[in-house]
Amino acid sequence: MKITDTIKYVGVNDHRIDLFEGQYKVPGGMSYNSYVILDEKIAVMDTVDADFTHQWLDNIQQVLDGRKPDYLIVQHMEPDHAANIANFLKVYPDTTVVATGKAFGMIRNFFELDLEGKKIEAENGSTLSLGYHQLTFVFAPMVHWPEVMVTYDSTEKVLFSADGFGKFGALDVEEPWDDEARRYFIGIVGKYGAQVQKLLKAAATLDIQKICPLHGPVLTEDLGHYIGLYDTWSSYTPEDDGIVIAYTSVYGHTRMAVSLLAEKLKAKGCPRVLVYDLARDDMSQALSDAFRYSKLILATTTYNAGIYPFMNDFITRLVEHNYQNRTVGLIENGSWAPLAAKIMKEMMSKCKKIDWLKNSVHIWSAVKEENRKQIDDMTDELCKEYIAKDDTLANKNDMTALFRIGYGLYVVTSNDGRKDNGLIVNTVTQLTDNPYRVAVNINKANYSHHVIRQTGVLNVNCLSVDAPFSVFQQFGFQSGRTVDKFAGQKINRSGNGLVFLDKYINAFMSLKVEQYVDLDTHGMFICSVTEARVMSDQDTMTYTYYQQNVKPKPETEGKKGFVCKVCGYVYEGDELPEDIICPLCKHGAVDFEPIQ
Ligand code: FEO
Repeated sequence: MKITDTIKYVGVNDHRIDLFEGQYKVPGGMSYNSYVILDEKIAVMDTVDADFTHQWLDNIQQVLDGRKPDYLIVQHMEPDHAANIANFLKVYPDTTVVATGKAFGMIRNFFELDLEGKKIEAENGSTLSLGYHQLTFVFAPMVHWPEVMVTYDSTEKVLFSADGFGKFGALDVEEPWDDEARRYFIGIVGKYGAQVQKLLKAAATLDIQKICPLHGPVLTEDLGHYIGLYDTWSSYTPEDDGIVIAYTSVYGHTRMAVSLLAEKLKAKGCPRVLVYDLARDDMSQALSDAFRYSKLILATTTYNAGIYPFMNDFITRLVEHNYQNRTVGLIENGSWAPLAAKIMKEMMSKCKKIDWLKNSVHIWSAVKEENRKQIDDMTDELCKEYIAKDDTLANKNDMTALFRIGYGLYVVTSNDGRKDNGLIVNTVTQLTDNPYRVAVNINKANYSHHVIRQTGVLNVNCLSVDAPFSVFQQFGFQSGRTVDKFAGQKINRSGNGLVFLDKYINAFMSLKVEQYVDLDTHGMFICSVTEARVMSDQDTMTYTYYQQNVKPKPETEGKKGFVCKVCGYVYEGDELPEDIICPLCKHGAVDFEPIQ
């Protein structure tokens, strides 16, 4: 087979193999690729598996047409490519072997060959001229063994990529590249994403028109597609939206829960649902799809105070292959001491960036009504983003979207001529930087709005993450009309005469009102900056941080009604009055949520 006029394919197809590397099913066989570059000097690129010695040597002889090879370039020492080094040198004893130092060590170990005087040890970036073809060697350690290098032919712009861009399947089997290349990548090279990323960075600097891997077809067109997939896989980025459910089931109850979940997910518009019975289905395919899709459900039983062996094997493989950056949920079953969910979570704790579903399914022996409810909740949580993306299913009027806007929290200080005042606000925005302009939005019901309208000056104190809840009580839950919020406090003053806080701020700025915009319920003050000081390197307190870390958990136990999301005030009753104003923080009905 001709790759170019001067590069010929001399590899072989293996249809006798059942398990590649002794574990991966390969119904389409395997190819072991080898190439000959014909030039003033002739180079043979790698050898093939031990079962194909004569077929490969015949292929080479035919291409050489009576000439002798000058170089055997060994890019990778795994026996599917390197098994015939000694046989080749018996036939062509004057050949010089080119490989990395690590590969020569492995040649000694595999063949007890002394190649002194008949070898060139490649350096990373070193070159070899064949006459017309100029080869550059680029080290690619752990893609997939430590001795690996790839070879770039800058003359014909061909990358000989070793195991990179390989796939399962012989070359005479017609099948899509992506699926078997993905299964090959995840299984064989998947653990070494960082090393593949490094190689891709090096490859990005080269003009590559053909990729010649050691397995699978030579890639000649649309190389961006293959390189893009390699980038996705090696950066552990989900390739597609979808949910893989991997399960084991002893007596069918766990399977029933999985079937219910799969049906509900499909009914709710999940783009792909793939279910794997880990005891029966191909484990490498389940692993490959777990990496392909964005979400994974693990369902198994407690077994011998552990988890079922096939699930144990599956999770071990996920962890070994650096599974990360995905959403994962758990279904467990147990009849007297269920431990499966706990054990699965512990095993997965080595995986980075796992977003655990809030809803799990806990089955005692058989699926019951409470489990159906848990499955419904899990379905809703899993499908939330799919529904939101769907033009027909999405709620397009969900104003809770506005709560996702990020806010900081600030104390705005002012003075009415008699006393200092302070107010918590979250709506401070820098508008421009030349000149500096800052907008502050304040509810008209607040006394500070009235004061700033009159005086035209204010200070914005940026709260830092060390601010305790008492600061929010002090400035947020009482009115300056009736209370002196600074009574007993240490007072610091900026150039405009207003207070800046003594503690719990990382900066403050003094503002002068330049413009006022009436927004009905609120007024927006557009201001210039007259003074600005940085007090510390603490992070700014955000609304989210306040909700998660500062605000005490509201005491809703045993109560029925609604809770204020800002301060935790509980309104007890069946219906929330539309015009309710929280007596503590003065926020309206929109900031209340039902007690669950
Ligand atoms: Fe195809 Fe890593 O050997």
